[in-house]
Amino acid sequence: MDITYALLDPEKRGKLPEGEELSFGRLRTDHMFVADYRDGAWHDGRIVPYDSFRVAPGAICLHYGQTIFEGAKGFRHDDGEIYLFRIDRNIKRLNHSASVLCMPEVPEEMHREALLRLIDVERHWCPTEPESSLYIRPFMFGTQDKLGVSPSETYVFCIMLSPSGPYYRGGFSKALRLLITDKFHRAVAGGTGTAKCGGNYGASLRAEEYAYSRKCDQVLYIDASNRYLEEVGTMNHYHVLRDGTFIIPEFNDSVLRSITSTSVLELAEAGVFKARTEQIAIRRFIEDIERGEIVEAGGFGTAAVVSPVGSYMLDDGKIVTVGDGGIGERSRALYEYYTGMQIGRRPAPEGWLTKVPSFR
Ligand code: PLP
Ligand code: COI
Repeated sequence: MDITYALLDPEKRGKLPEGEELSFGRLRTDHMFVADYRDGAWHDGRIVPYDSFRVAPGAICLHYGQTIFEGAKGFRHDDGEIYLFRIDRNIKRLNHSASVLCMPEVPEEMHREALLRLIDVERHWCPTEPESSLYIRPFMFGTQDKLGVSPSETYVFCIMLSPSGPYYRGGFSKALRLLITDKFHRAVAGGTGTAKCGGNYGASLRAEEYAYSRKCDQVLYIDASNRYLEEVGTMNHYHVLRDGTFIIPEFNDSVLRSITSTSVLELAEAGVFKARTEQIAIRRFIEDIERGEIVEAGGFGTAAVVSPVGSYMLDDGKIVTVGDGGIGERSRALYEYYTGMQIGRRPAPEGWLTKVPSFR
């Protein structure tokens, strides 16, 4: 696909605010990438100023939630260049989500080129402060104007960018408290849990509000049979055993296959850390924390990176504290290793980083 450019004049472009702490997802860059799907193919790939869409009131995405997205990150390295972390995984997972929601694939080559060209235009927006990155949000939604429930025949694919700080305020230095409740479930077998689709997040809002009302940061979802740990609404979950092994709940039909978690598992295969997946019974999990068998816990995700968890609240209000409730050394070591690779201060496995070339 030939990608066209309609760029703002240089004097109309914005820049990163100086001396201001970046929060997650608030800022926008000047431009976005957009392409339209109709008649079975993608058309008119273009880089244009960031602006609102014109969407028909009857568009299928507005009524029936046919909308998917990805979350990836770019980092400026000491050589001044921008590198995208594991972007091929995000490109592939968008197409997995598309298949779950009966949407067309975005050809991998088109997606990659769109990302690289957009970020090339917006390179001055990539922040350098610790814990910051250029957050990349590709997404697709069904635009056909019709009220019958069936897949849209037309779509928009867009990539927007947000120079961002850590997802949880305080970043790595703050240990979270998660609520474990059987009142809400994120996903079920045969559902859409493995897709990054809008509906999963819409459905999580009520649970999140409930967690806040109980002074918790998020819900740690358990499966619909109320027996096994699954994940958090914005990240996978992990705990660490006394021997330093990271345990991630197994990837099943109702858990998002986190690129961060799978990267940790790949690092474990390479002998860097000890990590594996397991089916984790909730009762046993709580007992093992209380017996000191589980010494650390937290979450893995692109936005969340490695987010330590200091304690859990149960439905009856009981608090279960992991270790001393603070940030454990294993989580810190993994966080430093992982972010070290992302920012280019530690070698990353072959193919994990993609340099943004200069196209113009
Ligand atoms: N689980 C959910 C529900 C998420 O929204 C995310 C964030 O993307 C993750 C897990 C972590 O996945 P990843 O590491 O690919 O960002
Ligand atoms: C991400 O980690 O990139 C996410 O998409 C999680 C969240 C912000 C929804």
